[in-house]
Amino acid sequence: NPPNLQMGEGSILEQANCRAKGGAPGFKVAILGAAGGIGQPLALLMKMNPLVSVLHLYDVVNAPGVTADISHMDTGAVVRGFLGQPQLESALTGMDLVVIPAGVPRKPGMTRDDLFNINAGIVKTLCEGIAKCCPNAIVNLISNPVNSTVPIAAEVFKKAGTYDPKRLLGVTMLDVVRANTFVAEVLGLDPREVSVPVVGGHAGVTILPLLSQVKPPCSFTSEETEYLTKRIQDGGTEVVQAKAGAGSATLSMAYAAVKFADACLRGLRGDAGITECAFVASQVTELPFFATRVRLGRAGAEEVYQLGPLNEYERVGLESAKKELAASIQKGISFIRK
Ligand code: NAD
Ligand code: LMR
Repeated sequence: NPPNLQMGEGSILEQANCRAKGGAPGFKVAILGAAGGIGQPLALLMKMNPLVSVLHLYDVVNAPGVTADISHMDTGAVVRGFLGQPQLESALTGMDLVVIPAGVPRKPGMTRDDLFNINAGIVKTLCEGIAKCCPNAIVNLISNPVNSTVPIAAEVFKKAGTYDPKRLLGVTMLDVVRANTFVAEVLGLDPREVSVPVVGGHAGVTILPLLSQVKPPCSFTSEETEYLTKRIQDGGTEVVQAKAGAGSATLSMAYAAVKFADACLRGLRGDAGITECAFVASQVTELPFFATRVRLGRAGAEEVYQLGPLNEYERVGLESAKKELAASIQKGISFIRK
């Protein structure tokens, strides 16, 4: 058989890439679900990230094609493709960061929880691979329902004896990206100047934007608060409906995933003062997981920040968020423990 130029360690393509690169230092990143709607633009953006020296693209379908395509970009990262379960271990070995957008997306009329039955098993299998092959990697979990898949991942790692809560992060960055965009629209500002903390989780009422803590400091009428909170909470559904059966957010999600992964890599590099919102193991509330701002460092989420002062509207929202979150977290834990 002729050699597969695009696939695997030691391939002709990779040797050429390594020569061209001169072995520049950087981080090794794997994307699991790399051929999907999120995975493809995510792979494109990660290939453009100068902090990435090696990029592993794993999927159960189409990984060779996506890898061949992305590998022609004249940026630094060496790209390797991995197809199907037998290649999962090679895809994961030696990785510093693993980003997981594998799994089915919503169609109109579905909740994120409706994805549980399929995605829970996918996340379990992938996390078993991580526990075995790169137990020290930072994990960015995108697959829905995030409120349950993060507890699933934690239980898999606990079972394997590799769990470090600082290294497991559920990606809620898209909620922050949307909040920044929608708030900037209302305020008439450039979204790049706006920072909105979004706490809780990643589904419906568990998505809790803290509009009282927006930077730059500002105030909203109760109508604006109601409109913005609903729009941020329903942002995913807005895209699902507009795509009308063709999936959920992929492009804005890839953007958000890369923004978050880049923050994790800068933290790993030792940069100071990197903070983002993420769904992590937490003692901020009575729940075992909760999204708040975290400080990212060499060890992952090194510090989990408190909620800060909430107004009455946010206190009511927090109670609804916690109620739904508690059930979703328990569902994830039970999936592994039973
Ligand atoms: P998609 O169907 O386009 O792509 C998913 C990819 O996962 C496919 O290529 C598929 O082959 C792959 N896959 C399936 N099983 C796999 C396995 N066992 N191992 C590796 N890869 C596997 O879906 P998408 O639009 O890319 O969305 C992916 C997931 O991300 C969905 O669960 C979606 O709900 C979620 N999502 C989360 C956020 C967030 O903010 N956290 C935002 C958008 C989408
Ligand atoms: C999103 O917020 O866009 C994702 O969680 C996908 C979805 O199902 O809404």
